[in-house]
Amino acid sequence: MTAAVLPVNGMPSCHEQRLLIVGLGLIGGSLAAALRASGFKGVITACDPSEDEIARGIDMGLIDTGGVALADQVAGASMIVIAVPVLAMESVMASLADLLTHAASNVVLTDVGSTKATIRDCAARVFGRVPPNMVLGHPIAGSEKSGVAAANPALYVHHNVILTPEPDVDPDALMRVRALWQACGACVLEMDVERHDQVLARTSHLPHLLAFSLVDTLARQDERLEIFRYAAGGFRDFTRIAGSDPVMWRDIFTANREAVLTSLDDFEAGLARLRQAIEQGDSDALIATFDRASHARHYFDTLLNKTSYQAEYNMQPQGKVTYRVRPGGQAQGRLRVPGDKSMSHRSIMLGALAEGVTEVKGFLEGEDSLATLQAFREMGVAIEGPHQGRVTIHGVGIKGLKAPAGPIYVGNSGTAMRLFAGLLAGQAFDSELTGDESLTKRPMARVADPLRLMGASIETAEGGRPPLKIKGGTALKGIFYDMPMASAQVKSCLLLAGLYAEGETRVREPAPTRDHTERMLNGFGYSVSREGDTCWLQGGGTLSAGPIDVPSDISSATFFMVAAAITPGADITLEHVGINPTRVGVINILTLMGANLELLNQAEVGGEPVADIRIRYAPLKGIDIPVDQVPLAIDEFPALFIAAANAQGTTRLRGAEELRVKESDRIQAMADGLAILGVEHTVVEDGIDILGNADAQVPSYGGGRIDSLGDHRIAMAFTIASLRASDDIIIDDCANVATSFPSFVELANKIGMRVNVEGQHD
Ligand code: S3P
Repeated sequence: MTAAVLPVNGMPSCHEQRLLIVGLGLIGGSLAAALRASGFKGVITACDPSEDEIARGIDMGLIDTGGVALADQVAGASMIVIAVPVLAMESVMASLADLLTHAASNVVLTDVGSTKATIRDCAARVFGRVPPNMVLGHPIAGSEKSGVAAANPALYVHHNVILTPEPDVDPDALMRVRALWQACGACVLEMDVERHDQVLARTSHLPHLLAFSLVDTLARQDERLEIFRYAAGGFRDFTRIAGSDPVMWRDIFTANREAVLTSLDDFEAGLARLRQAIEQGDSDALIATFDRASHARHYFDTLLNKTSYQAEYNMQPQGKVTYRVRPGGQAQGRLRVPGDKSMSHRSIMLGALAEGVTEVKGFLEGEDSLATLQAFREMGVAIEGPHQGRVTIHGVGIKGLKAPAGPIYVGNSGTAMRLFAGLLAGQAFDSELTGDESLTKRPMARVADPLRLMGASIETAEGGRPPLKIKGGTALKGIFYDMPMASAQVKSCLLLAGLYAEGETRVREPAPTRDHTERMLNGFGYSVSREGDTCWLQGGGTLSAGPIDVPSDISSATFFMVAAAITPGADITLEHVGINPTRVGVINILTLMGANLELLNQAEVGGEPVADIRIRYAPLKGIDIPVDQVPLAIDEFPALFIAAANAQGTTRLRGAEELRVKESDRIQAMADGLAILGVEHTVVEDGIDILGNADAQVPSYGGGRIDSLGDHRIAMAFTIASLRASDDIIIDDCANVATSFPSFVELANKIGMRVNVEGQHD
């Protein structure tokens, strides 16, 4: 029986009995090679007009038998793969139509052609309709080499194969063709024929056309020898594909004429825009285009795979990242942690909306703020960098943003999504905001509701969750909003929408929250007033660019403050940390717990207070955390829970229900981890009691395996916890540490910890 296929030992395999490949070139030969490498047990035969190709295929061990006459090969085939050039398909199909009576009754037909509409049409002509046992397909893989001699068993590994089945396809045939390609290591996708041809015209056919055209144009110039002699790497990279098989490409351009012409029109329009920018010396337009392009590939990979920017940029392990931390170790030294995340987001946002050029120093090159940066590129803002924390933003003015080409993907960042919601509500264009799995679970009604009161038109998914769909061109009016929760993101969202609203936008906060938006707006010459718990601004003003110096993030510094606070003998100095009064809850709480903490070199930089923070070990005691400190330390609780686990007595936290809607439910995630370490605690709805164990001579708790739930701060908190553990702590799902603190592990090891990163490639 010719069975379809199910994974054997976890690897998909192909169970065809007799595979016939018609056309034994690179593509057909590589298919045979890949199947052989996968342990394929059936017979592989081939038919090719060249006897030499068949003989080589047999010599190379790729095929068992073969010949030049199709009639001799068809009988008994369970699957026939037509791997001939697109324009030769019709004659092959016509011969097959006559011969198929000799084939096995459940024979499946498929092909590998690069365009699908012409092949589907020719099947319909030959067979009367596309037969249900025919599944058209296209492996998106190739090489400029041709012929069976170039066959490569790895050609399809991790490459896409697009199948374009007709609606009435036989499901068993579809499953078997899928299995064929999966056995070769490919990822199999399905789409309809028209979509396939449009996508391929843009991503494959157009670039080949350009490469052929550029090489040919240069080759026809008088000084061609000189040109080719000095051709450097860039030319070679760009034109490599001009060495591809001319017949195949002639066929492709003939077959996919319409879709190719449309994509050529788009390309010519883009080229004309660049030409004009060069003619007019429009350097902003050139930078905007080049910057967008130079980051686009990377950005779209991130968006498609929902993976991280760092993984691509820095070759960090992608997919699952686990930290294995040895117990004990030291906490010594001077450190400078990366730039403040909240300020980094805002520096890009306000810089983009300002008139003039904004130079940012100390920008956090973490996933979250990079997502914001990329989003503005997508909206037509020229941004240079980041390079070692420096970013140059060519502001487009408050009304200068352009519609992005698609949804804006903000990854893991709640701040980006909520602040963008306000800013985009005021634009003339429609927009959509999406994020990763964790962000998709977080509440957005807290911004959508008040924005609607301002007149915005916003749709959320069920339960007020992302994605957010925002209608452009709606007139906003200022409101007075009495925030039900203490949230800097909600406040900032409304102030940003307020820039576009008629009249005054006022926000009252139930407790003070970080005021970077207000400070930075004032720094950009846009007046934000405050009286007591309420701040407000008038819509319709302008922002003027200025330099921004982003201090180190106190939220990142916290992990090392706690490291020193719990480790006997520790002495750590954290340089140039932002100590804005709305962020210093962690300093106040640790001090109340008895930590030995000093602020040195206090100064004000660009409207924000900074200091070096020195912290030396001193025994900690449990406290009732003052409720008014909760919003001022909102991101610091995972680390503070570890301080509590190392204090004498019980630390009680209340009024912290907001922790339940952060990147994870941080009360529960921390409680689960503490339970694994053996730390006594009691969870309540809005907080937790933690009973510390503070004997400096012995470890405070055990080790174990902890799930960070993809929450960066949970991962970092339990890493620091190892300083006082009796055994290894293994923390899973740590890739998101890169959202806020890409150099965390490096710095942890620098102070004397022993953190190993185990990455697993997907
Ligand atoms: C932030 C505000 C806080 C904080 C987040 C950053 C900001 O969120 O937890 O990490 O940059 O405005 P909430 O506004 O939800 O409290």
